[in-house]
Amino acid sequence: MTRPVRIAPSILSADFARLGEEVRAIDGAGCDWVHIDVMDGHFVPNLTIGPMVIRALRPHSTKPFDVHLMIEPVQPYLAEYAQAGADIITLHAEADRHLDRALQVIRGLGKKAGVSLNPATPETVLEYVLDRLDLILVMSVNPGFGGQGFLSSQIEKIRRIRAMIGDRDIALQVDGGINPETARLVVDAGADVLVAGSAVFRGDDYSATIAALRPPYE
Ligand code: DX5
Ligand code: ZN
Repeated sequence: MTRPVRIAPSILSADFARLGEEVRAIDGAGCDWVHIDVMDGHFVPNLTIGPMVIRALRPHSTKPFDVHLMIEPVQPYLAEYAQAGADIITLHAEADRHLDRALQVIRGLGKKAGVSLNPATPETVLEYVLDRLDLILVMSVNPGFGGQGFLSSQIEKIRRIRAMIGDRDIALQVDGGINPETARLVVDAGADVLVAGSAVFRGDDYSATIAALRPPYE
């Protein structure tokens, strides 16, 4: 079975002084989703942007806003992210001991619900929430910063999650250290949404990089 592979550039590596322009540029360069990394300086050792910035960016693209919440606690803020313009809201399994409830809240807000797993978290935490999920995000770096090296230990996890998903309509996303070489590895293992921050924004030609991240690979 060949699944279409979607590309979600992470604006974490964009020029923060020109964020609206950068979002328009990746949209024009053919991205599928806009990946927005929200960090709280507590769940992860870095601090980025919140709902006000997402709201300000919303008019700059009609593509889905894929909001990756690296915050703890997370449930008190879900409605704010939904209202700010998120289409997909992903929380970390490690950040909420009431994962089942949090996923129900996201769907109740009319948004697609995702769960992300840190590199050390086993896929077994997904077993009893599969039917509440629209997306599973495998972190292939320890979350917090762009530009880190890809952790090949996650390839086996991606393979196992692809098997767990079966014929359910759940996207399998990978985030961290993705470039055209690692893209091939994770797509072979079963990923169908690729997040890429530094690979896209550190080059001059966003369309060429986005195209190089999609199969078929050279
Ligand atoms: C890391 C973020 C990623 C990050 C990826 O915590 O979740 O989305 O921006 O950056 P690269 O592609 O540079 O590894
Ligand atoms: Zn991310």
